[in-house]
Amino acid sequence: MPKQIHLAVHFPGVNNTTVWSDPRSGSHIEFASFVRLAQTAERAKFDFFFLAEGLRLREQGGQIYDLDVVGRPDTFTVLSALAAVTDRLGLTGTINSTFNEPYEVARQFASLDHLSGGRAGWNVVTSWDAFTGENFRRGGFLAESDRYSRAARFLAAAGVLFDSWPDGAVVADRDRGVFLADGRAGAFAHRDEHFDIAGRFTVPRSPQGRPVILQAGDSDAGREFAAATADAIFSRHSRREAGQAFYADVKRRLATYGRDRDELLVLPAATFVLGDTDADAGERAAVIRRQQISGQTAIKLLEQLWNRDLSGYDPDGPLPEIDPDVSTEHIARGRASVRMHRDPVATAREWRARAEAGKLSIRELVIEVSGRQTFVGSPRTVADQIDDLVQCDAADGFILVPHVVPDGLDEFADTVVPLLQERGVFRTEYTGPTLRDHLGLRRPAATRAVPTG
Ligand SMILES: Cc1cc2nc3c(=O)[nH]c(=O)nc-3n(C[C@H](O)[C@H](O)[C@H](O)COP(=O)(O)O)c2cc1C
Repeated sequence: MPKQIHLAVHFPGVNNTTVWSDPRSGSHIEFASFVRLAQTAERAKFDFFFLAEGLRLREQGGQIYDLDVVGRPDTFTVLSALAAVTDRLGLTGTINSTFNEPYEVARQFASLDHLSGGRAGWNVVTSWDAFTGENFRRGGFLAESDRYSRAARFLAAAGVLFDSWPDGAVVADRDRGVFLADGRAGAFAHRDEHFDIAGRFTVPRSPQGRPVILQAGDSDAGREFAAATADAIFSRHSRREAGQAFYADVKRRLATYGRDRDELLVLPAATFVLGDTDADAGERAAVIRRQQISGQTAIKLLEQLWNRDLSGYDPDGPLPEIDPDVSTEHIARGRASVRMHRDPVATAREWRARAEAGKLSIRELVIEVSGRQTFVGSPRTVADQIDDLVQCDAADGFILVPHVVPDGLDEFADTVVPLLQERGVFRTEYTGPTLRDHLGLRRPAATRAVPTG
């Protein structure tokens, strides 16, 4: 029996992955857009809908970085509203463990799990930058080494809260006049080096027991955290070799925590461009790349490596002769991709050599180096590629990022999904009501630590 593929859809922000200037692009903030994308995903029997989180408007050179205006409304508000207009689709949101408190986050997720009939998922992120942290009351003080320690304790504390009501605590027996079967319902106490909380939790144990936990960090500490606690990882390793290496690495780590291979799913982010034939799709992909990287965007992205104002450069001209400025604070603030340029001077030299060899302008070079199209081809080619990557253990499925919102998933739903269903590698109907059911994950038993005294 071939492995079954998991599919989710990411509602993207406005940035150089999406094409906001495309005439088919709609609002990234109106509820109608969220509904449209979610209902398409549900029609296609996807596992879940996914929201990322951006907690501060990004800046570059002291200005709002308007090519990356995230425009992301509050996660719980959006997912709760979507719960009312969908029936089976999982509803997964990214919520930071550095700036929030366990009590409020656990309460929100338990509530969402109730409202949606067991469809809540939580992507636990730690954030990395003090700039974002400035928005919050403790500021961005948390050292990198402490972020996963707080995340682990945060999740442990949330787990205590999720489990604080025994299953069946509410009996509401009218004849006997008894509402609660267990007078200790909601009692909790949790203490560690980050949290010292005790009291009563307000929300009964939810349909899934706990929301599905996703993790998205890539460092060694992040992978270890995922192996210890997560149900799924949102990764960026969607290519065959990199995907297989990542997959093997995180699955290997599970044994340390007494967990089986199928208790942690690996779900890379992936984009796609479809066409009637592979050649059509290739042409469309090239057009989309040019839409995604305008001349102005190319200069802005180049500035992120060079760490300099390059506004005087012609995007259709050659790369700057000068090296990146590594002597000063970064001009781009709040953008994760900047962290990937570990040795900017070496990367700049590489890019310059590549541009010279291929006679590429700044814009052409940026189009090449920032390429993010994972699957390009006819529906059959894309179905083959997805199935192949899952069967060869590069992934357990994908979180798809359409480049047009909100209709960008329609073509995939109408053409690729039926091919995967024909092969018997993707469901034709939901087999259960909860997100855990879709992902093949058990409902965790409550491990209730009853406070004494
Ligand atoms: C695929 C992917 C998606 C991510 N999405 C978000 C996000 O939406 N919001 C956020 O604050 N951090 C996001 N992150 C950041 C991570 O969760 C994490 O905080 C950061 O990468 C630092 O951890 P690391 O050093 O383990 O990578 C994402 C990371 C990855 C790899």
